Amino acid sequence: MQSILQCMDCGQQYPVDQIRYVCDSCGSLLDVCHDFDKARISHALFDARLGTFQTPYHSGVWRYKELVYPAAADEHIVTRPEGNTPLYPSPALAQWAGVKTLYLKHEGENPTGSFKDRGMTGGLTQARVLGVRRVACASTGNTSASLAAYAAFAGIEGIVFFQNKQIALGKLAQAVAYGATCIQVNADFDRNMELVREVADKLGIYVLNSINPFRLEGQKTIMFETLQQLRWQVPDWIVCPGGNLGNSSAFGKGLHELYELGLIDRLPRLAIIQAEGANPLYQSFQTGLNGLRPVHAETIATAIKIGSPVNYAKAVRALRWTDGVVEQVSDQEIMDAKALIDRQGIGCEPASACSLAGVAKLVRRGVIKPAETVVGILTGHVLKDPEATIHYHSGTLPDITAAYPNRLHQAEAALEAISRILETQAEVSDRR
Ligand code: F0G
Repeated sequence: MQSILQCMDCGQQYPVDQIRYVCDSCGSLLDVCHDFDKARISHALFDARLGTFQTPYHSGVWRYKELVYPAAADEHIVTRPEGNTPLYPSPALAQWAGVKTLYLKHEGENPTGSFKDRGMTGGLTQARVLGVRRVACASTGNTSASLAAYAAFAGIEGIVFFQNKQIALGKLAQAVAYGATCIQVNADFDRNMELVREVADKLGIYVLNSINPFRLEGQKTIMFETLQQLRWQVPDWIVCPGGNLGNSSAFGKGLHELYELGLIDRLPRLAIIQAEGANPLYQSFQTGLNGLRPVHAETIATAIKIGSPVNYAKAVRALRWTDGVVEQVSDQEIMDAKALIDRQGIGCEPASACSLAGVAKLVRRGVIKPAETVVGILTGHVLKDPEATIHYHSGTLPDITAAYPNRLHQAEAALEAISRILETQAEVSDRR
């Protein structure tokens, strides 16, 4: 067997052809571990696949198949294809944040507009390996949009549990449109996460939240692709938002594997950024990462409105492997950073802007040094949460004063009225 499920704590192993999310012996999280074909794996193997039309290697996940799921059969692989997302050099934002070099890796430019697609290709592929007919998740929105799309694409029934309020409109619309069975449950994300596991257990449905280790195998390729785009030159920092902590956990595993395989010569440091109102990892970091105390979560960045992250233990491992740090940012900082990313023409949803807000804060605190090279991960597309954007620019967000507003003008249908607006606008631009 080339791949096996292995408990991250006690090392107990299980075959991959069974449904299992945690260890039977000790209850800890499982990793998918592969018997890597070291003789075959090299920069050249992955570089040679760049630009190919050949399925599945045209995917930014399956380009690294030997590191993701070596034995997966072509007929099982469900790919759109995802990945191949841009790495934007961002000198203006680097200057604003106070670092020499900043890149933004835009995972919002995946098929359904978030990084979840990289995980979902892994999860739906495993669903096909197992032969399941129904897949489900609880979600703050993006996982459900991605699951709904990938399940439909694979011809499998998708079921999504939404929290009772504050789901960004774009995400809700996607899940409905892609034909998933959508259930709005009268509970927050954390309770929904428990419920989906209970219901799935009882009804034999396969759970595709990030507790599913096959999701993380897909998501770790964000690191592979970033490194490949940097010609395998290691940046000093990787900075990403943290909610359920699946992504940061996957980054830790992916980076660790690249290092162990000799594909990179050192590890970048990982900085996980949480919203102040949903900061259980940050609080744990302040006291030496000695355990998780769940919080009641509130933040405008609804994607990461999570108080009890299921991947806590794996995120701690990722922080230890990479000498990582955790920072928190306010909703005000998140929305202002988002406005700056948007204005570059790049755009992202609120949670993604934690990355830029976090870089600026870590530079101010002297953790990230001005001469260092930083890669910030943007996790979701600007169209995911149009309401947050419009309210920010209209000045109608409670407790937030927009530092970078772009007010919407109203005009009579007359040349003079429109000219007046444009002249005033030109003066404002000149003054900037
Ligand atoms: N950014 C966005 C846009 C997200 O949708 C999420 C998570 C995160 C960051 C945090 O990633 O959970 O791996 O730490 N969204 C999940 C969802 C929880 O249900 O869509 P994480």
